Amino acid sequence: MTTYITTPIYYVNAQPHLGHAYTTIVADTYSRFRRISGEDVRFQTGTDEHGDKIAEAADKEDVAPKEYADRISGMFRDTWPILQVEPDNFIRTTDADHIAVVQEILQNVYDKGDIYFDEYSGLYCRGCERFLTEKELVDGNCPDHQQPPQEIAEQNYFFRMSKYQQQLINHIKANPEFITPERYRNEVLSFLSEPLEDLCISRPKTRLTWGIELPFDENFVTYVWFDALINYLTGLGYPDGEKYDKFWPVAEHVIAKDILKPHAIYWPTMLLSMEVPLYKKLHVHGYWNVDNTKMSKSIGNVVRPKELVEAYGIDTLRYFTLREMSFGLDASFSSEAIVSRKNSDLANDLGNLYSRSLAMLQKYCNGVVPAPQQEGGNDKQLAEIAEKMLAAYTKNMETFQFHRGLKAVWELVSYANKYIVTNEPWALAKDEGQRPRLETVLYNLAECLRLLALVLKPVMPETADKMVAGLGIAADDASVNLLAVGGAWNVLNPGTVLQKADPLFPRVDVKQHMGKDEKKSDTSKKEKKKANKSVPADAEGLITFEQFQQVEIRVAEVVAAEKIKKSDRLLKLTVKAPEERTIVAGIAEHYAPEEVVGLQVLIVANLKPAKLMGIPSQGMVLAAKTEVDGETRLVLATVSKPVAVGSTVA
Ligand code: MSP
Repeated sequence: MTTYITTPIYYVNAQPHLGHAYTTIVADTYSRFRRISGEDVRFQTGTDEHGDKIAEAADKEDVAPKEYADRISGMFRDTWPILQVEPDNFIRTTDADHIAVVQEILQNVYDKGDIYFDEYSGLYCRGCERFLTEKELVDGNCPDHQQPPQEIAEQNYFFRMSKYQQQLINHIKANPEFITPERYRNEVLSFLSEPLEDLCISRPKTRLTWGIELPFDENFVTYVWFDALINYLTGLGYPDGEKYDKFWPVAEHVIAKDILKPHAIYWPTMLLSMEVPLYKKLHVHGYWNVDNTKMSKSIGNVVRPKELVEAYGIDTLRYFTLREMSFGLDASFSSEAIVSRKNSDLANDLGNLYSRSLAMLQKYCNGVVPAPQQEGGNDKQLAEIAEKMLAAYTKNMETFQFHRGLKAVWELVSYANKYIVTNEPWALAKDEGQRPRLETVLYNLAECLRLLALVLKPVMPETADKMVAGLGIAADDASVNLLAVGGAWNVLNPGTVLQKADPLFPRVDVKQHMGKDEKKSDTSKKEKKKANKSVPADAEGLITFEQFQQVEIRVAEVVAAEKIKKSDRLLKLTVKAPEERTIVAGIAEHYAPEEVVGLQVLIVANLKPAKLMGIPSQGMVLAAKTEVDGETRLVLATVSKPVAVGSTVA
């Protein structure tokens, strides 16, 4: 089986930002997922270097377009290794072989009669690099660039796009997976329900010279989209070659919604005219905003991937973007949101599972993976949840539902953490008669980590490699590289010798999370200083009394609650404890606002305030995680009898 996955080729008029990073991380993750599925994969990205935009940007800096393109294209190329993105091919539309093939295709389509010369006047948006229809305008402006288009009248060459309209409609209708998610398929079909205009595919040299010259008229250059889309073929050596034969039939493109029309309408009609089979799938995602605001240079909120990697680490960035965005919908980036995911999902859930399990394997088994001997407790459930996770993970990764795939993986992480608590290996270790049980529990934990390393490899390659190294498994072992071998339970070989394990994610610094309220705590300064050295929890995960005392738990009464726009996870709570404060709680999927008003809940009162979706949250509501019909549920922690608001819990 083979996979060919592509990203858009990015314009070289601006440096890479979070949006480019996301699409490319998606394609990289998918390509790695297909590799662990045993497929022969080709992953292509690159840069789009011709057209008005680039000529204009180069002009502003007073350099030749090619020199400018070389510089920015280099920035894209240099960004990918920082993001652990490993394409098999990086294409540039200024590559000589690409140019030659674009000209050959133009000539063929022209000879066939699908390109004609005509006079045209229309509304041209420089930002989109295309003519817009009246219907597309919002208040007279281009909806994407918030600028009025220019009225342009000139003679140009046109591609008979309309000729292929019905064929395209038939194809989309017959192939429900051609464009996904469905909302974008519907959008395209709705657009196609009106007569399609032909596509202007040339620019007179009097207006633009930075482009590929038309082979049949030296006074014109090719429209940048006619040139750019063809990269998906030229990158395979089209029209000849083994790579083309092997990969084109399985081509899948990933794009964001901004370039749906060129990919879902121009490109397939061009392929129909060229008599080349249509690509297989188009995966369309939404837009990243920043703090709920459109990312834009003029607002000054453009987020650069390099800076994100420096601040949070690459695997946190990869995990966060894939987990936070529901593929197809818009999402909002904020430093609070990424820190919160890092602390809870990565440091607490996964990081603790890993370090506690390995520490216990070191302590009780001398760092050698024991053999399972005596099944008991909730071993069966753990294995079942692992299997369920594998099925959900595979299905969701195949269909670009990365957030769902990761959610399924975290059900296993959280069950495994629970497994430690319910089996109490430290108690088993005290009784020699329980040795077979202890070794079984620890084997299961090591096996869980192996399986997690395998499924997380596409998403967080560095973390997965660390886990594999800590487990003492060879980096190239099939059990951590291939789902067909490792996608099962009881695969890890007993006797495997663990290696020195570095923590996966830096431990959450207790001090950093204690706010100004710290002063209020009655722990003496001396005691606090001692505890703040952040004595790590020991192998059993035990903390000292002083460490516990640092957390101020209080009873708070919820006086108001409301949903937070654009978040299906968060509720904004107003509580009295006894002073009034706002707490943003991740319980919206489990509680309606009206259900929580009036409840007396337990809160951590001395958490450093943090902004969530732009709302300052002063504390944390405590809730129990439980399983109902295989789904994780959150149940708020309350008191058994009403008490005075603000009462401390100790
Ligand atoms: N050069 C064309 C594509 C030609 S493909 C044959 C182009 N380039 S671009 O540099 O503008 O990149 C657009 C793509 O960048 C989007 O489709 C998406 O993949 C990514 N993103 C740019 N901004 C984005 C967000 N704010 N959010 C998510 N992705 C975004 O269009």
